[in-house]
Amino acid sequence: MKTLISLLLSISILIGCTESSQKTLLSNPDKAIETKLAELIAAMTLEEKVGQMTQITLDVLIMPNSEPVVFDTLKIRMAFEKYKIGSVLNTPNNGARAPEEWNRLVGMLQDYTLNYSRLKIPLLYGLDMIHGASYVAGATLFPQQIGMAATWNPALLTTAGEISAYETRASGVPWTFSPVLDLGIDPRWPRQWETFGEDPYLASEMGKMLIKGYEGPENEISDKNHIAACLKHYLGYSQPLSGKDRSPAWIPENMLREYHLPSFAAGVSASAHSVMINSSEINGTPVHASKTLLTGLLKTELKFEGFAVSDWQDIEFLYQRHHVAESVKEAVALAVNAGVDMSMVPNNFDFADYLVALVNEKKVPMSRIDDAVSRILRVKLQLGLFETPMTYYKDYPEFGSEKSVEAARITAIESITLLKNEEGILPVSKNSRILVAGPAANSMRPLTGGWSYSWQGDLADEFAASHQTIFEAIQAVVPKSENVKLCQGVRYGTGDYRNEIVDNPAEFSRMAAASDIIVLCIGENSYTESPGNLNDLTISENQQNLVKLAAKSGKPLVFVLVEGRPRIIRNIEPLADGILLAYLPGNYGGEAIAKILFGDVNPSGKLPYTYPRFVNSLEPYYHKATEQLEAATPDGTTFNPQFEFGTGLSYSEFTYSDLRIDKINYAAGENIQCSLTVTNISNIPGKEVVQVYISDHYASITPPVKRLRAFEKILLQAGESKRISFEIPVSRLAFVDADNHWVVEKGTFTLQLGSLSTDFTVDETKVY
Ligand code: BGC
Repeated sequence: MKTLISLLLSISILIGCTESSQKTLLSNPDKAIETKLAELIAAMTLEEKVGQMTQITLDVLIMPNSEPVVFDTLKIRMAFEKYKIGSVLNTPNNGARAPEEWNRLVGMLQDYTLNYSRLKIPLLYGLDMIHGASYVAGATLFPQQIGMAATWNPALLTTAGEISAYETRASGVPWTFSPVLDLGIDPRWPRQWETFGEDPYLASEMGKMLIKGYEGPENEISDKNHIAACLKHYLGYSQPLSGKDRSPAWIPENMLREYHLPSFAAGVSASAHSVMINSSEINGTPVHASKTLLTGLLKTELKFEGFAVSDWQDIEFLYQRHHVAESVKEAVALAVNAGVDMSMVPNNFDFADYLVALVNEKKVPMSRIDDAVSRILRVKLQLGLFETPMTYYKDYPEFGSEKSVEAARITAIESITLLKNEEGILPVSKNSRILVAGPAANSMRPLTGGWSYSWQGDLADEFAASHQTIFEAIQAVVPKSENVKLCQGVRYGTGDYRNEIVDNPAEFSRMAAASDIIVLCIGENSYTESPGNLNDLTISENQQNLVKLAAKSGKPLVFVLVEGRPRIIRNIEPLADGILLAYLPGNYGGEAIAKILFGDVNPSGKLPYTYPRFVNSLEPYYHKATEQLEAATPDGTTFNPQFEFGTGLSYSEFTYSDLRIDKINYAAGENIQCSLTVTNISNIPGKEVVQVYISDHYASITPPVKRLRAFEKILLQAGESKRISFEIPVSRLAFVDADNHWVVEKGTFTLQLGSLSTDFTVDETKVY
């Protein structure tokens, strides 16, 4: 790891490669905010400052399991009178609430806070609104991030962010713990679906646009329609060696910088107001204890000016789990000195007691406290909470409106990815006799996924009951609903996402025989974090058996894969005539799937990750040449995924022609201009994602076989041709070398667009 000094020296390196000038708050400060901030800091006691750095969970403040929720007045006094805490998170009793109820709860907490606060500093409430206002009953739920990424349509994400911000504010909440900017590089990891997939460039482009939706084009978070975003989980959380959540990662610094950092750098450049820290460790150092990563890389090198919040209980865990501190008190010193600004404690007030003692003992400098508190209070001031501590549902008439729902529908439609369509089995005729089967056929829970109405997403069938399951949606779009039958064959049980029940195979076979086509809705139920860990990525045996049973009927099979991560389907894939990957499409997923099945809309999603064929072959598309030297063999000795990154079929057919590039030789500071013609040679309109990949032939660090460097999603009418141009700065081709510098080395590159390609050279080596 670098020392702070060498990190300071390399400031320009990363900024050069993010290609965006940072909108620094402090280079252009709001004078009124900075004046008020200075006054507050000068007037605050140590205890008041530490209170601002303390975040607790709502359940600490209520009578246990009370429904309706009743506040515990003793705990309220303890929190706001004694400890002067500044932030609360989470949904009570792990269940969503109506927006009016959120108004009551957050409103009462704001009143308590302001009543006890000598300096009238408002509370900052935070919730995991990660695909819409996902803890609010009746809110508009979008596909989870992995589905958002599969749209390859960043503009849709700005709209999703705007609607999510609006409905979050309607609930009286100004802060979301979103977006996840972790690199979705490991399909075993139970939070891969919370990411934008495996590509750093795609994740950066998508992340920026979602942030723009949350915070507004100019980060105008005082506007009552916007909220503060939280980039998480900084840094390197998503690539644990074991694939299990919150387990150790071993990531060399050049890989950390080249693959994991760009999405966070893009989020910081987009001026997002907060960051949440990785619960786990990299190379033996828990990130909560890493001054190099928090104060060095994030705050000094990237110039992040918002505040950094710990993840759940993670300061205590430096002692209890990671064993890098000998007591909780030592853990508090370690984390705060490393650069953690706010502790998501969240179950007690010990953090505050320890931190006050540590400052008095001079083990944490007052300057560090002032820095942390300034960062937090600046965001409270920017959010306008001092003037407007609450926002109310009654002022948000568009909550859950048809317009918002339409945006979620379009996002779901554009996410769904057609992976196989043998002999044009899809679209299906609406007059067919259809058997809808599989455990995801008639339930909302697998469609919405984790962090939907509850942590594990297990309340979706209660809260999303008014939305259509896949079966209901299919019935609704055909002329004769009696032609659509349901027999699941395998059902998900309650609780643990792995619970499955095999359901009446004889009846299933009888109904299969009486159908024209079988739609098998398979995959996995909802989960997140460590409850979603698994030991085998292969789709469950019950579901494989169901598919084999269905195949015995001799009827065409269409798989609808509803899954947070790509479960291995190698053994059953040959039995499918068609495969639609739905990811976790949210409340309008059923409708979107039905429309695509019958051709009411044309699919246009593309894989944001490599869909593996074998559990022992989980390489991303940007693997090294040595990983694909030999020809593919059945046992998978070389790169041979089930489906490649960036692929996805359409009911239209597109051709690429006439690739042109403006030069054959570039200087390091120049831009590559390339263009091509894309033609829709079919007789229906369709959307295509044009993707530019560039390969570096030789480099001082073994180059990946290719990297995505630009993309654009376009709509082409039947028979239409369009000329599409890209401008790619040569600096975008940089990699991080053995000295951890971003560099473009001179040499030959290949630019590839579909089956077209052309070579060019870069004639100078440049360190950015
Ligand atoms: C998760 C975070 C989440 C936080 C608050 C943690 O367990 O890792 O992603 O934002 O809880 O709910």
